[in-house]
Amino acid sequence: MNLYYLMTTLFVGAAVLTAADASLTSLNLLPWFTGLRWLRIHLITLGAMTEVIFGTLPQLVAIRYGRPRPAFRWDIWLTLNIGILLLLVGIPIMNEALIYAGGTLVFIAAGLLIAQLWGMRPAHGSNASTAEHTGRPFYIVGLSFFLLGILIGVGLWFNWAGWLRISVPLEAHIHTNSWGLMSLVFAGLLIDTYPSWAGRPLAWPRSIRPILWLMSFGALGLVLGPWLNSRWFLVPGLLLHQTATFWLLLNVVKPLVGDRRMFAKPGVWHVLTSYLWISAPVMVAPLILLSVRGIPGPTIEANAPQALIYGWVFQFGFAMFPFLFRRAFLPDEPARLGGNWFSLAAVNLGGIFLWVSIFIEPLGPTLHAIAYGLWTAAIIPIAIELWQIARRGLTRLDTLSERAAEVPAD
Ligand code: HEM
Repeated sequence: MNLYYLMTTLFVGAAVLTAADASLTSLNLLPWFTGLRWLRIHLITLGAMTEVIFGTLPQLVAIRYGRPRPAFRWDIWLTLNIGILLLLVGIPIMNEALIYAGGTLVFIAAGLLIAQLWGMRPAHGSNASTAEHTGRPFYIVGLSFFLLGILIGVGLWFNWAGWLRISVPLEAHIHTNSWGLMSLVFAGLLIDTYPSWAGRPLAWPRSIRPILWLMSFGALGLVLGPWLNSRWFLVPGLLLHQTATFWLLLNVVKPLVGDRRMFAKPGVWHVLTSYLWISAPVMVAPLILLSVRGIPGPTIEANAPQALIYGWVFQFGFAMFPFLFRRAFLPDEPARLGGNWFSLAAVNLGGIFLWVSIFIEPLGPTLHAIAYGLWTAAIIPIAIELWQIARRGLTRLDTLSERAAEVPAD
């Protein structure tokens, strides 16, 4: 049983409640609660996503390397989960000791996971070229960005930007975790799981190495841009990163062209449309940089991260979480991507409403409320799907252990 995945169901459930709360507070039906905005985003990113990442990567690398399933690491599980809980309590109430302790524990957990992945080697006799084209280096680079993201994130509360000489700390934090951690880990997940849910290899397996370099240096430029307040890093970083993302998606889409069955699956569309929402800020970024009239730069900066997290990060999870859950809890059944047509329509309409709310200021709160209402509605079927898979998996384990107990001892 994967304890990380059980924690994921918990955080996805909590994410439904906080998204619903954002809808109601926008309509003034509930009062604002300080810190809830932080909690809403981080229940998804630090809660649900991190749990899945930690619970999945060692297993996936072991499978790709032809090695036995790695033993469960209680040290990593405990440091991560105690750390997350301390942060989820400490940040909304701004308690220094809890934030330091929580940040340090999550940092240690990420460091331990990197060390575990670093130490894994392909089994003797496994195909060297297959072992080379795996998601492992993406995971290691992504998690290294996470270490930096934690440092900047914790520092946001203690004004570390001064001694770290970070010009725009919040942007540096968001870029490190989104373009660094999430982008690279998602790329690795696509590379490692694609043959299993698409039933075929990526279009150009040899492109994996160049994609890794382009994406890693792109993310570095995107972090150094706000860190040094320099477009000389930001713009090339953006170009490298976008090129890598586009190339990766072509790798995914090309083998599916002409296969109508695949495009009739909402999970495939969840994966593909999620990437629209990481491109949306990229498309308006030049308008903000050039200070074009009528483009509300500060409103975009305040709202775009939410569309990014719900539209891209969480939507990618809508497809990937149920797939990984099925593999872990119901290994005898074919694993497929998650989501349905309703979740697909609701999550993407939510993103559209949020972006429209930025540009039509008088209707802002109402459109904002509709966006969060749609996101709440989109998460509910996913939460139910995850819960049903976990419940069936636990029942299966119970039945297996009962049968084992019934076998008479020799
Ligand atoms: C230990 C880990 C983390 C810590 C300590 C942390 C801390 C913070 C802090 C202090 C803020 C500023 C909140 C504010 O100004 O209202 C913030 C914002 C943000 N963080 Fe994190 N964070 C962490 C992990 C992550 C991860 C993994 C992501 C993934 C993408 C992420 C994405 C964001 C985003 C998008 C915002 C902007 C939220 C908004 O505008 O509403 N953070 N974080």
